[in-house]
This record gives sequence, C-alpha cells and structure tokens, in this order.
Amino acid sequence: MGINDGLVMLADALPGMNRIRAVQRALEQRVDPVYLEIGVSKGQAFQRISADVKIAVDPAFRLSPRTRELADAKGRETYYFETTSDAFFRNEAALLERHPVDVALIDGLHTYEQVVRDVEYTVRHLREDGVIFLHDCNPPFELAGRRADSWEDFIAEQKGPLVIGLWNGDVWKAIVHLRSTRPDLIVGVLKCDQGVGFVRKGTPDSMLPYTPDQVAALTYADLKADRRRLLNLRPPRYVDEFLSAGASRR
Ligand SMILES: C[S@@+](CC[C@H](N)C(=O)[O-])C[C@H]1O[C@@H](n2cnc3c(N)ncnc32)[C@H](O)[C@@H]1O
Repeated sequence: MGINDGLVMLADALPGMNRIRAVQRALEQRVDPVYLEIGVSKGQAFQRISADVKIAVDPAFRLSPRTRELADAKGRETYYFETTSDAFFRNEAALLERHPVDVALIDGLHTYEQVVRDVEYTVRHLREDGVIFLHDCNPPFELAGRRADSWEDFIAEQKGPLVIGLWNGDVWKAIVHLRSTRPDLIVGVLKCDQGVGFVRKGTPDSMLPYTPDQVAALTYADLKADRRRLLNLRPPRYVDEFLSAGASRR
C-alpha cells in the first residue's frame, strides 16, 4: 500500500464529513437513484456506495475481485467502463440518456481543464435536482496543489529524498472557473477531506469575475490568500443545507 492509499484510508475511517458520506447522504434522499463515479481506482468509495444503478469509469481500475463483489452487492445494476472520462462521455450518451444521473463523484484526472470538462459533461446528463461532488478541491499546501499531467508525473517530479504522496493538483481552479463562467450552477467546497466540491443547477448567490485565462494564471499563493472567497468555502455541516435546497426542487 502506498502512502497516498494509507492517507486516504485513514481519512475515510475518521468520523465527520467526507466525499463518501456526502455522496451517501445525497443518495439516501432519492428513490432508485443513479450514481456515477469518475475515477474509481481501488474502489475505496465505490464499494461503499448503495444506489439502484452504479456506473464506474476509470482508465486503470485497481479493483480486487472482493471489492468488485462488495460494490456489485450494493446496486441492482453496475457498469464498469475501463476508459477515460472523455471517451466515456463520448461513447455512452445512450446509457446516460436511459439513466440520468442523480449523484456523481468526480475524482479522476486532477487537472483543472479535465475537471471542468468532467463537470460540464456530467451536468448535461444530470437530473434537474441532481448533485455532483468533487474530491481534492482544497489543497492544504503548495506541493499537494502542484500541477502535473498525471499521478506518476507528480511523483517523478519530486527530487528530494522525501516523496509526498498527497496530490490534489489544480482541481481547485475548476471551482474558480465554474464560479466565474456558469451563472446556472451553484458551486462551492466543503472544508473537509481535502476539499469536497459541490455543484447543482440553480442561480448562485455570488459569482467570480475571472476569464478562463485569468483562472489559468492563478497561483497557489492566490488560493492561500483568498480560499474562502475563491472556493465559496463552507463548513462540512453545510452539506445538509445544500442537499435540502435541492430537495425542495423535487
Ligand atoms: C484518486 S483516484 C480515485 C479514488 C476514488 N474515487 C475513491 O474515492 O476511492 C483517481 C483515479 O482517477 C483515474 N483517472 C486518471 N485519469 C482519468 C481520466 N482521464 N478519466 C477517468 N479517470 C481517470 C486514475 O486511474 C485513478 O484510479
């Protein structure tokens, strides 16, 4: 088990809000819901989530047979697509038309442009009252928030004897981008589990003024100086308010 796997397992075992509990809470409020997870890896989240239809997307699943059994037992229908999220959305529109998404977790490639695409594609297939959660939106230090093209590149670029196994990438910029460009989406971040982003359809209370080029030029220092405003950072308990606002639209 790598350092990152250990950190993730520890975080998931601690009490309090995290990406898995946020997803579970959203699903519990729905009848026969459809769940989509982009970026599944070993299935730390996917094996715990109960939904009527579960859809898993990852170009390199690391699921053991036992984990897959546990994951399958928590859904009536389970689909696995061993491909990138871009290819999945390109090729599986018919499946998503049959199964509009109630709740999604976006936790695939940790680059800002990819996360924006993952959210925008998902929104097209999201129920009117559906919700999206995103992992890794609030990096705790500069190295964790460093831009890289993949997990392997992130590790390879560390030159010192101590390798940091926590990579959030610049996912946080996807939040800033969406808050600047999408007047039709409510977007923010819960302050827990390395930042759990939340998205649903609706008119936001506030937006940000940045162009995509300005978002691309932002640095970790900008985030550190102004996290609350840039991310619309909320305490973990805000998840209930967020979900009940969505429930009133049903
Ligand atoms: C942090 S792990 C996901 C962890 C999982 N969601 C959980 O909570 O247990 C990130 C995963 O994203 C996958 N990934 C990388 N590039 C991707 C892409 N373009 N589309 C979808 N998934 C991708 C990786 O293979 C990796 O398994």
